[in-house]
Amino acid sequence: MIKDSLAKALNDQFNAEYYSAYLYLAMSAYADRLGYKGIANWLAVQAKEEMAHGTHIYHYLLERGAAPSFQDVKAPQASYESLQAVFEKVLSHERHVTELINQIASLALNEKDHAAYNFIQWYVDEQVEEEADAEDMAVKFSRIGDNPGLLYTIDAQLGMRQFTNPFAKS
Ligand code: FEO
Repeated sequence: MIKDSLAKALNDQFNAEYYSAYLYLAMSAYADRLGYKGIANWLAVQAKEEMAHGTHIYHYLLERGAAPSFQDVKAPQASYESLQAVFEKVLSHERHVTELINQIASLALNEKDHAAYNFIQWYVDEQVEEEADAEDMAVKFSRIGDNPGLLYTIDAQLGMRQFTNPFAKS
């Protein structure tokens, strides 16, 4: 049986992942309304990944005998000054998520819950990738600025991103 402190932290995290999905979907809507369907696609795929993370953690709680508790999902920021500002927010948000994941890993160690520690390692690794991708995007958009030709090119590239569920059984 999982300790209450750890169940609460994982519970907060699955709700935080659903908030991340809201945040990215709202960013996707912003890009879509500017006419950048490819950038909107990239952000919508990001939102689907966050839903998958949330649901994965929620299932883990059930597996460990804890009752998942659904919280209110805060309304995300809906408008931005620019696409550059969107990707700066993506980066700062992912850095924040890394802190949350690291706190859970530390708690699992303190509680000597090796199963939970092992479970959360997937997210520790995932955050390395999430931050690297977010940094890459933030740099790209800072260089692109409002150059229409470069925006057209990156919009076409980001339109190719497809969602694959990282937890799908093959
Ligand atoms: Fe669920 Fe973007 O980390």
